[in-house]
Amino acid sequence: MYIFANWKMYLDFDESCILMSQLMAENFDIDAQLGIFPSTLAFSEIEKLARDTQWGIGAQNVAWVEKGAYTGAVSAHLFKEVGAQYAMVGHSERRHIFGEKNEDTQKKMQACLDVGLVPVLCIGETQEDKENDKRQYRLKRQLHEALQGLDLQEESFLVAYEPVWAIGSGTPCTDTDAEDVAGWIKSELKDTFNLANIAVLYGGSVDSKNVLSYTTQPSIDGVLVGGASAKFDTFSALIRAVAKG
Ligand code: PGA
Repeated sequence: MYIFANWKMYLDFDESCILMSQLMAENFDIDAQLGIFPSTLAFSEIEKLARDTQWGIGAQNVAWVEKGAYTGAVSAHLFKEVGAQYAMVGHSERRHIFGEKNEDTQKKMQACLDVGLVPVLCIGETQEDKENDKRQYRLKRQLHEALQGLDLQEESFLVAYEPVWAIGSGTPCTDTDAEDVAGWIKSELKDTFNLANIAVLYGGSVDSKNVLSYTTQPSIDGVLVGGASAKFDTFSALIRAVAKG
């Protein structure tokens, strides 16, 4: 089970450190991989606070090259060097605000795998795709184009299904629908890439009240949480809800 927190650009440096310290002070009795994806500037500090605990730390985004003239970019290599275990690739906000394409996600996947970071490949259809019955078409392209040509091993990456319309909207995907999509992603990975043990997470307006409806689905291995992970009360309530089962 994975519970991953995507802090996006919600918190400043002090707020990030305070929230992480509050989380560290809690003894969550939970059999899960907990993860924080902090802002890049708070990364090292958060990593120090989380070292040797059940919390893993990840990058929200990586550049696909290791070094060079790429102003403003931070490579997978650099994140690895400062203790990252995970990196999100192709988050909806990277795709829709920053224009990231499927071919970019493929290069970022490669960069992560090259340095031993576990990429969390985020895929999801827009409202328009959904209305035009193009969900499967969109997800298939995002999945296949991100993975093509990579030397993939079982458990070397994760997939997060995050419908764009569900992110930050307060309108999550229904649990049955998310389960159907997670099952479909797993069968695609099996049939096309011969990969059986890839965890699939659901993300999009997950909170303490609805989290269990996802984590109890057979094909869903965890959640990627944005808004509800950026405050101590809402995030600790969410973790406790999963722990209680
Ligand atoms: P949300 O964001 O939980 O605020 O909907 C999820 C995400 O963007 O990963």
